[in-house]
Amino acid sequence: MSKKVLFFCLGLAVLLASCTTTRKDAKEISLAEAFSPYFPLGVAVNSATVDSSQDLIRKHFVSLTAENEMKPSLIFPRMNTWITGGADAIANLARDMAIGMRGHTIVWHQQTPGWIFASAGGPASRNQVLERLAVHMDFMHERYGDVIHSWDVVNEAISDAPGEFLRPSPYLDRIGPDYIAEAFRLARAHLPGTKLFYNDYSVLDPVKQDKIFRLVSELLADGVPIDGIGFQGHWSIYYPDGATLERAIQRFSALGLEIQITELDLSIYNHDDQTSRFDSPPPELLELQAQGYQEIFEILVRNSQYITGVTFWGVADDSTWLDNFPVRNRKNWPLLFDENQEPKPAFFAILQSLENFDSAP
Ligand code: GLA
Repeated sequence: MSKKVLFFCLGLAVLLASCTTTRKDAKEISLAEAFSPYFPLGVAVNSATVDSSQDLIRKHFVSLTAENEMKPSLIFPRMNTWITGGADAIANLARDMAIGMRGHTIVWHQQTPGWIFASAGGPASRNQVLERLAVHMDFMHERYGDVIHSWDVVNEAISDAPGEFLRPSPYLDRIGPDYIAEAFRLARAHLPGTKLFYNDYSVLDPVKQDKIFRLVSELLADGVPIDGIGFQGHWSIYYPDGATLERAIQRFSALGLEIQITELDLSIYNHDDQTSRFDSPPPELLELQAQGYQEIFEILVRNSQYITGVTFWGVADDSTWLDNFPVRNRKNWPLLFDENQEPKPAFFAILQSLENFDSAP
């Protein structure tokens, strides 16, 4: 055997050995523990996955977000009526695990009951809507203040339409353009002891990013109490590129804001792809997904001084909102664990990003 071939074989053997070790050790690893020097790892859960994925949740995550159960339409469907069963189950798991939660969300144009904006058959006044927000915050603080560490006070207020700044919303109609500032001021008073976040998608799109940057800069200049910005992170195996993500993190953190990635998942379909081409996840796409996650986590770890949390939007591929969005009944596989709740290549890839960072000169 030539020297070259010998070295090649030895190299391959070492590589294979290290892969098998990593895979064998997967059962021992806790992702949250591995990332604990950098930022807390969280996960969105729902009334079903708190049970069906509980082992993974307990092992790998140290922060929970209610996928829907704390949204106003579910928890505050009628005046003076809160329906708390779903949210309680999630908060109780967090309490049992002695970990915290992200509160999601207070002010949003979607999943908000119409009564908040109505009064005696007509529109509610500015003061009525603000008062209802305050009452709701008091309730949420009273019931969940012991577990919630951060709140998405306002979700998705910026418009995607060219030339339009704030998205049309009943909050904008009833309260006026200062509704975001007012929501944060109320939140500081009525949700004490929590970090207050503005949360949105497409933060990496240059036009939308400029609008969001303008919004939070103006809030800060006006002395509005905002602590951070949530990048939702509903991305794909083709997007984003690392440099864009890194620039955005640094741009917003330069304002003194904390950054949290709040809803991370990587669709195996491109954003505009409406086809349903796959019955099972093609291995080469799972490999691309692993590379995408690895690049994202290399950047997050490298910028961890600005990042106070990273939350996945779901535990495992057996339960993901992307099975019905943007195409109904199209299976997707966007998370770190597969449909059998076993670790995917992406699981090992984000651990690899840590190893690369730790062993960098
Ligand atoms: C947005 C919202 C989330 C959730 C996702 C889709 O990102 O912030 O609460 O509804 O869409 O599941």
